[in-house]
Amino acid sequence: MIHDPTSPGDRTSLGDPTSKGGPAGAPDPVGATYQAGAGDLGLTDDLLALKTETEAALAAATDLRAWDAVRVGVLGRGGSLTALLRDLGKAPPEQRRARGTALNQLRDTLTAAIEARRAALEDAAMDARLAAERIDPTLPPRAAPSGLIHPISRTIEEITAIFGAMGCTVAEGPDVETDWHNFSALNIPAHHPARADQDTFYLPAPRLSAGGNTPPPVLRTQTSPVQIRTMLAQAPPIRVITIGRTYRADHDATHSPMFHQCEGLIIDRDLTLGHLKGCLIDFLRSYFDIATLPVRFRSSYFPFTEPSMEVDIGWNRKTGELGKGGDWLEILGSGMVHPRVLANCGIDPREWQGFAWGMGVERITMLKHGITDLRPFYESDIRWLRHYGFSGLSPTMLHEGV
Ligand code: DAH
Repeated sequence: MIHDPTSPGDRTSLGDPTSKGGPAGAPDPVGATYQAGAGDLGLTDDLLALKTETEAALAAATDLRAWDAVRVGVLGRGGSLTALLRDLGKAPPEQRRARGTALNQLRDTLTAAIEARRAALEDAAMDARLAAERIDPTLPPRAAPSGLIHPISRTIEEITAIFGAMGCTVAEGPDVETDWHNFSALNIPAHHPARADQDTFYLPAPRLSAGGNTPPPVLRTQTSPVQIRTMLAQAPPIRVITIGRTYRADHDATHSPMFHQCEGLIIDRDLTLGHLKGCLIDFLRSYFDIATLPVRFRSSYFPFTEPSMEVDIGWNRKTGELGKGGDWLEILGSGMVHPRVLANCGIDPREWQGFAWGMGVERITMLKHGITDLRPFYESDIRWLRHYGFSGLSPTMLHEGV
């Protein structure tokens, strides 16, 4: 008797060793004998062996990789069941039908078993992941890595905030300057030592213009040329600061070939030395956050100012403490803009006066924060930055004394 492979009874009884019945007396396909009591499948010995073997291999496959090896070994192109199906044509014609039915049933059974095992393995893998990745809300959170503001950037923000509150805007100029902007327009004569090779980085000269002797461009040695650019670009009154990189051939613990300067320029009618002093005293006391910081103006010389003054603050030379101690520390240069400089920029010195100042950003940063060596500013050593850096969450605020 041949089983109807489409009968649901056959399917539900698959693999059930207790199920009764069998195709007693069915013909032997391909030299195999039907196994009595092998369930409703009526499997021959070889098919029964394949079924048992496959089920054992599936049970032994504890991950999807092993599972896939079993699947390919049975149902794949070169799989054992595939081979049997392929060989069906070689069976004697009278056995072919029964053998075909049995093979098809076995294929359905094994396909279902393989699929069931995959689902079970995937579930187990998911369970394992869920168990392993369980969140423990009692653990303290890991600190999110956050960067810090470099002390130079912080000082630049503070300077900008203070002079911004006085009505200054920020002007900018190029790092590579013409000799005229960096020197001549600022009334720095040809013989001035600032032009000497050992101080100034000269760049290769452009091809000489016909018959001319254009001086080579320079890496600006000061931010003062931005004064010139500003006066050429805008009519007075002017209130600007500029903060940027400057370059000089100098290198030791307190000098770097690249450093930053802050320059200020105020042009108006009726400006006096009193305005200059008030402006700079206010700035220094705000920046160093010392309301009583002693400030001294000392007569000096700069080619682009007349009169010129060096500005000192009070400190204690021995302890480094600012604000008291009876010693003086030079901080910046300043003066009333030289009439020739105004005239060089097309501003009538009989109508307009101005004052200007220039200071080193690194220097005032080192003094404020007790940094003794200039070189680590540019070494990108994360330990130094962690120590001296500022949190981005503590922005510069005027009401904090800045
Ligand atoms: N440019 C000067 C320097 O590099 C600093 C300076 C002094 C700038 C006086 C000024 C000033 O604007 O008025 O040493």
